[in-house]
Amino acid sequence: MKTLLQLNSSLNANGGQSSLLANSFVAAWQAAHPGAAVNTRNLAADAVPHLTAERFGAFLAKPEDRTPEQKAVTDYSDALINELKAADVIVLGLPMYNFGIPSQLKAYFDHIARAGVTFQYTATGPVGLVTGKKVYVFATRGGFYVGTPADTETSYVRDFLKFIGITDVEFVYAEGLAYGPDSAKENLGKANAEIERLTTSEQLAA
Ligand SMILES: Cc1cc2nc3c(=O)[nH]c(=O)nc-3n(C[C@H](O)[C@H](O)[C@H](O)COP(=O)(O)O)c2cc1C
Repeated sequence: MKTLLQLNSSLNANGGQSSLLANSFVAAWQAAHPGAAVNTRNLAADAVPHLTAERFGAFLAKPEDRTPEQKAVTDYSDALINELKAADVIVLGLPMYNFGIPSQLKAYFDHIARAGVTFQYTATGPVGLVTGKKVYVFATRGGFYVGTPADTETSYVRDFLKFIGITDVEFVYAEGLAYGPDSAKENLGKANAEIERLTTSEQLAA
């Protein structure tokens, strides 16, 4: 049975445009995979804490040396990682806030990047340990950035996912959402058409 993990990071929770696009995709995916499991994590409502020196110290400590507080931190991180590793398909709702990803999503990334657990350094460079996943990203923006140097979000998310072993990543964009209702309608329409294309394609049914 397939498992999908949906990570929403809009500060508007389920009302965010990125969440709505991700929800549309997930509904169609579910229809194509009856009986599949869908886990949803709303990073605005259920925030992952900031990574602090104490929390990072817990990651670095040897398991047998961890204090109860450090063990609680690594147990929490392990649970996020196990949830991620259990998924075949991962769906990210990705708003642009102040030229970058939401800090809620960054905090999540900071808790799933664990040496020896999700990546490891080898003599030939870093190797990601989270393999065999397909990721769909639903990116929403007030302005227009795709294909310009200001779109650091796309390369950052691709680089991060690649670092932990995930290379099959597909982006759907809805840009120009702050340029008035006509622009928002047109660009959300294009994103929804792209979702329609993705969810009727053979790769989705596979
Ligand atoms: C705090 C904040 C910061 C934003 N910063 C940007 C930005 O830097 N560039 C941009 O194009 N749009 C920006 N926007 C607009 C959002 O990207 C846009 O509203 C998008 O729909 C947000 O996704 P969401 O609806 O899923 O939350 C910002 C919106 C908010 C609330």
